Amino acid sequence: MELCGGAGHSKEIVKRLSDKGLLIGIDRDEEALNVAKERLKEYKNVIYYHGNHDEIENILEELKIEKVDGILLDLGVSSYQLDEKSRGFSYLGDNILDMRMDKSQDLDAKKVINTYSEIELSRIFFEYGEEKFSKNIAKKICEKRKIKEIESTKELVDIIEEVLPSWSKNRDSHPAKRVFQALRIEVNNEIKPLFDTVVSSIKCLKPSGRLCIITFHSLEDRAVKNAYVNQEGRCVCPPGLPYCVCGYKSEGKIITKKPILPSDKEMRENSRSKSAKLRIFEKK
Ligand SMILES: C[S@@+](CC[C@H](N)C(=O)[O-])C[C@H]1O[C@@H](n2cnc3c(N)ncnc32)[C@H](O)[C@@H]1O
Repeated sequence: MELCGGAGHSKEIVKRLSDKGLLIGIDRDEEALNVAKERLKEYKNVIYYHGNHDEIENILEELKIEKVDGILLDLGVSSYQLDEKSRGFSYLGDNILDMRMDKSQDLDAKKVINTYSEIELSRIFFEYGEEKFSKNIAKKICEKRKIKEIESTKELVDIIEEVLPSWSKNRDSHPAKRVFQALRIEVNNEIKPLFDTVVSSIKCLKPSGRLCIITFHSLEDRAVKNAYVNQEGRCVCPPGLPYCVCGYKSEGKIITKKPILPSDKEMRENSRSKSAKLRIFEKK
């Protein structure tokens, strides 16, 4: 049995694989891979791969593995990345604007904030963060960066706080949360490739193999849901025909008509699981 997925929380998965089974842990963050290597050091049947799961077909080809039995994509950022302040994902504290999951990539949050046009910044904040004041924030960033490059998370938080009217600030949510989410998504190109990643992942499955995807916000979830519906296919023949003539192609079926949500216990123990949704697709 071959399984492919993020490297982090796979101890349970590896335990369940027989000696002949193989787990391929893919992460674009080398620090996450190192943690996984340490956590799973007693297991020999794991391959750790530093790369982007959007490239899953190429990765398997390079590993000379044709198809796998299951794929788990646990999307987004990890708690480690959020909590490790030096990675620049957090709006708390004062750190360099980084936010790269893969430190070998060129684009970081500082580059986005200091080089993107006002229109591009505004679009990102609105599209990826659903920030209502996206235009005002983008305008203020462009004004401030004319005087001095914006370098730290604190400088960005201060700008956001200056722009947002006090009535809009919600005590349950940090005022910079939406802009930071948007920036992180842009830096790591988290949404655009997702539809194609689902399609490629399904191609990599053996018959009856399953693709399980955990999403953490509506943009990810929508992309996954749309890709699953597309891959399931749908007959569009007019009703009443004795047999199908539209020639639709189905790659398999959606197992979860509604997403699986965390239990109350899990949400109590891990508040970050609250927004998680698991959707499963089974290859024909
Ligand atoms: C939600 S965390 C998963 C954490 C892991 N399951 C655990 O419990 O420790 C997401 C992980 O996926 C990685 N990641 C996100 N997008 C990726 C991509 N396109 N390719 C490879 N890894 C990615 C991140 O670097 C991060 O370590």
